[in-house]
Amino acid sequence: MGQSVTARAHTNIALVKYWGKQNPTLIIPYNSSLSMTLDHFYTDTTVHFSTDLTADQIMFNHQPADAKTAKQMSQFLDLIRQRAHLPLFAAVETMNHVPNAAGLASSASGYAALAAAGARAAGLTLNKRDLSRLARRGSGSATRSIYGGFVEWQRGTNDIDSYAIPVQEFVDWDIQMIAIVLNDRPKSITSRTGMANTVATSPYFSAWVKTAQAMIPEMKAAIVKKDINLVGRLAEQSAMQMHATTLSAVPPFTYFEPETLQAIKVVQTLRQQGVSCYYTMDAGPNVKVICTSRETPQILAALAPYFSPEQLLVAQSGPGVSYR
Ligand code: PMV
Repeated sequence: MGQSVTARAHTNIALVKYWGKQNPTLIIPYNSSLSMTLDHFYTDTTVHFSTDLTADQIMFNHQPADAKTAKQMSQFLDLIRQRAHLPLFAAVETMNHVPNAAGLASSASGYAALAAAGARAAGLTLNKRDLSRLARRGSGSATRSIYGGFVEWQRGTNDIDSYAIPVQEFVDWDIQMIAIVLNDRPKSITSRTGMANTVATSPYFSAWVKTAQAMIPEMKAAIVKKDINLVGRLAEQSAMQMHATTLSAVPPFTYFEPETLQAIKVVQTLRQQGVSCYYTMDAGPNVKVICTSRETPQILAALAPYFSPEQLLVAQSGPGVSYR
């Protein structure tokens, strides 16, 4: 009987997006990416390998995981079992502390927490770089959730050199995000499928890789300068360039919903009025607004006619993985 280990990991939102895999099995991206880890949204995962089990037992918020998720997580546990030479099944209990139906991706925090808890429960001692490499095999964005604050996932070219590094772990300046939860329906096109279609068919994909890669040093410089306007402007550019690759795929597709454009419009109008706020979006319709805490009340007031208070979640920068 092994020990039971609980790890916590927070979700993150990319400022320079990752979009497209060079190697879909190992999850090696075409471009490096850079994110901010958030404080409010996190996953606690407990893993226990046991001789008593005849299959992995995977629970989410006290309910058995759906078959597809359970299979993916078991395959991920296989990586840990192989590495630790441990022929045992595991009991996994995942608690997602993302406000109900927030529609925010929990795969980043989920796989980062599973990597940390699973590796330690299997008796492995992994440093953060190796944890980041392991989390990457579950979900690309999980690579970055090992660290807090601003984090860069260096694309690399193989399993060894594709991992995240901290850029600024403790954020001592005023930057936060307002997540606008527009719709919590499961996304119709997963990020996995969306990326694969884009890589295969968008004539703009190579331009995306080039511009995304070039933006990494610019974003780092903006973070060092603590320049919210530059960080926001670049993040907005990165998001829209990423979404342009889906619109230019064959057949075209988009994650935008009518409410997405409504939220973007509010941000644009506020900016015309002199408020520093910028939008970003991932593989779903929800919009995240990058802003300072000083201007947040004004931004929330401008969003209030269109969205209910439950749809507006404010988050600051959060920490990397920890054990409970
Ligand atoms: O973590 P994945 O493999 O589902 O990919 C997520 C990709 C985006 O969220 C759209 C961008 C990013 O860098 O997080």
